[in-house]
Amino acid sequence: MDDWIDYYDSTHTIYVSKLHRDLHFQIIARDILSYISSPEATVLDYACGEALSAAQVASACGKLILAEPAPGVRGRLIARFAPNTKIRVRSLEDVKKMQEQSVDLAVMNSVAQYMSPEELDSALLNIRRLLKPSGRLVLGDILQPNVGMGRDVMALLSFGLRHGFLKDALIGLISTALSDYRHLRSRIGLQRYSEDEITAKLSAAGFAVQRAHTNIGHNRWRMTFVARPPLVRG
Ligand SMILES: C[S@@+](CC[C@H](N)C(=O)[O-])C[C@H]1O[C@@H](n2cnc3c(N)ncnc32)[C@H](O)[C@@H]1O
Repeated sequence: MDDWIDYYDSTHTIYVSKLHRDLHFQIIARDILSYISSPEATVLDYACGEALSAAQVASACGKLILAEPAPGVRGRLIARFAPNTKIRVRSLEDVKKMQEQSVDLAVMNSVAQYMSPEELDSALLNIRRLLKPSGRLVLGDILQPNVGMGRDVMALLSFGLRHGFLKDALIGLISTALSDYRHLRSRIGLQRYSEDEITAKLSAAGFAVQRAHTNIGHNRWRMTFVARPPLVRG
């Protein structure tokens, strides 16, 4: 296993049970829905993963583009959402070729930590190009430099406790500790950014930035940012 894309393409244990996986995607979809401002909106979910609740997002917008780099995940997305005429499945290469100013809302949740800083810069520049002047990018689940793996463990356990899968969460933590995840996390690591660092990165890509009050998803120790093309006065 070479990188995080291979990891997400494998039969990994990041979701400790079906309930955990289903709840995860329901919560992400609910949070994405809160950022959709028009039923006609074109929404881009950048590195969407399995996106199990994407049909709910699609029902609230005009078009939903699910972009995913892992080929196996992409194959399942194509099969799962083939009947849904509002959903398109794309690779990240396809996204580079999309028409400029064609997207109202781009979401990149829980992805920046897996990218090199250079990959993130180039993805941000591309998304900036794709956004309409009134569009927004929601960049979620950013890990902070001073918050260690202990907080991720706590967040998972409290999520499990609240939703009745604490035992599975404990078992899942042990399997993850013994898995490729642990090896990759110590070998390649996860990218972390302070609020100032991510603001500087987004500004360099041509965005005006605000931190959101709450993170997307269940982990309150991670951060979400809302970035938009700056207003042109004239
Ligand atoms: C934790 S999942 C997040 C999926 C979804 N956005 C969510 O919130 O549930 C991480 C995603 O990042 C993708 N990924 C991993 N490494 C990447 C890279 N270097 N560039 C782009 N995407 C990457 C994986 O394929 C996977 O879909």
